[in-house]
Amino acid sequence: MSIMTESHRNNKKMADGTTCGRLWRFCASAVAATLLGGCAAEQTPVPQASSMAAHVYEAHCSACHSLPSPKRLYYSQWEHMVGVMDGNMVHEGMKPLTPEDQRIILDYLKANARR
Ligand code: HEC
Repeated sequence: MSIMTESHRNNKKMADGTTCGRLWRFCASAVAATLLGGCAAEQTPVPQASSMAAHVYEAHCSACHSLPSPKRLYYSQWEHMVGVMDGNMVHEGMKPLTPEDQRIILDYLKANARR
């Protein structure tokens, strides 16, 4: 249990948009194992936080790690990343994003991505 607490602490640090160490995978799988554990509760301030799109983004993208800031990547990178994450969801036995949710998330990221 203490190992897991440790990994949560590391995940919080990484949530700030800093580079992920190799603990990433460990933490993500540890959290995925306990599904929606402590990591998910960590809040990252995001643009238009009370908008519907931000809620959709948060609901889907903070399940395994803390919510990444949209500013972290360029939109072209987000397009790729959301596809990769969709694969991660399926891999973890979660439902993939519906085309609507994917559209909402991508539009949200596009409007707020790094430029
Ligand atoms: C099923 C669990 C899961 C969900 C849900 C999930 N991710 Fe991830 N995410 C991961 C894992 C595991 C990694 C570690 C990198 C990898 O894929 O190997 C990661 C890493 C990341 C990274 C960091 C990549 C880096 O190199 O710093 C970003 C950004 C990210 N995810 C964005 C998202 C977005 C956006 C969503 C929502 C569409 C999302 N994630 C939903 C599991 C998930």
